[in-house]
Amino acid sequence: MDLFEKFTVDMGPLGKHAGVEEGYFMFPKLEGEIAPRMKFRGKEVLTWSLNNYLGLGNHPEVRKADAEAAEKWGLAYPMGARMMSGNSDKHDALERELAQFVQKESAMLLNYGYQGILSIIDAMVDRKDVIVYDAESHACIVDGVRLHLGSRKVYPHNDVHKLEKQLAQATKLTSETGGGILVITEGVFGMSGNMGALKEIVALKEKYDFRLLVDDAHGFGTMGPTGAGAGEAQQVQDGIDLYFSTFAKSMAAIGAFVAGDEHVIRYLKYNTRSQIFAKSLPMPFVEGVSKRMHMLKKMPELREKLWTIVNALQKGLRDKGFNIGTTTSPVTPVILNGGVGEAAALAYDLRENFNIFCSVVIYPVVPKDTIMLRIIPTASHTMEDVEETIAAFEAIKHKLETGVYKKDQLAAAFQ
Ligand SMILES: Cc1ncc(COP(=O)(O)O)c(C=O)c1O
Repeated sequence: MDLFEKFTVDMGPLGKHAGVEEGYFMFPKLEGEIAPRMKFRGKEVLTWSLNNYLGLGNHPEVRKADAEAAEKWGLAYPMGARMMSGNSDKHDALERELAQFVQKESAMLLNYGYQGILSIIDAMVDRKDVIVYDAESHACIVDGVRLHLGSRKVYPHNDVHKLEKQLAQATKLTSETGGGILVITEGVFGMSGNMGALKEIVALKEKYDFRLLVDDAHGFGTMGPTGAGAGEAQQVQDGIDLYFSTFAKSMAAIGAFVAGDEHVIRYLKYNTRSQIFAKSLPMPFVEGVSKRMHMLKKMPELREKLWTIVNALQKGLRDKGFNIGTTTSPVTPVILNGGVGEAAALAYDLRENFNIFCSVVIYPVVPKDTIMLRIIPTASHTMEDVEETIAAFEAIKHKLETGVYKKDQLAAAFQ
């Protein structure tokens, strides 16, 4: 049988939405400058789906720095992998700055967060070691764990009691194999918005011998008194052995970094295959992230503005009786009851009639008959945006509860 033949029959779990939904729910195009108001299919929409937390994506100072760096360096320099010919003083300096900011000895730049963390996990463990990780971990963690040849244990999301049981088993196992234990969680979980139970996990170090890797993609720049992330927010930054974040969210760029003890980062520099065998970050990204770091440190008002919007939005939604789950971060899920058809009709109504664009999450990511609207507030949103959105959400909730979306409006709309 031709290997490719099956693709005509089964497009995969996401590919099954590749029909009429393509261009609308799948691969939609938001056009114009990165801002709360962008164009979707030619019409202005209020956008709540970009992880541009601090509003840096289109900040004039950032745009200027990016443009100047591109003018000066082009997109190629430095050529080659860091280890071979792609290193520069500016890469080194940015690493020192990142390490200092997250209160670690040393840091290492990564080209992309996904491939970076996957490869870090791969570099650190061998078949004697045990990985224990949170069940709601991002795909990049799950895929990194999949490469591991030794034992892997998953604990229910933030269930520290279960984690402890698994640590006890892992300890027994590693005492036989002579290996070590790596615990992996996130600082802020991107769907629910709740923080990883870092304080409790770090406290388990008193009883068990393990190392902790935290993916703080959503916490870096948003959480903690200085924006150094969820570890800082929970006052356990010291207990995090390896701190990771992407630049794709608060930093509104590309790339990522991992920070920890000097000798560990040194080891990772020589053993992380996704970096050894891939071109290093081009200079405009390095200079662009340096500029963003400078702003993150010197302009706390960006984070304050973000939190003003977050607090107004979350309080407003709660006051109107919405279920926004257990979030303790800017990520704001709005949880409603309804099937997949209703979710599509509701989201269509939101976009077409209320001009609001946010992500819609359905089964199997959330339980059956649950619709999750995921709102990402940013420092560039306004109080008017918040009020407009809460009013629209009240209207769609009412329509959902009175069965308006049960009719197959969506199919009609796409005909
Ligand atoms: C929790 C988490 N980790 C890692 C990544 C991957 O980062 P990148 O986009 O830099 O590959 C993402 C998504 O961007 C994420 O949400």
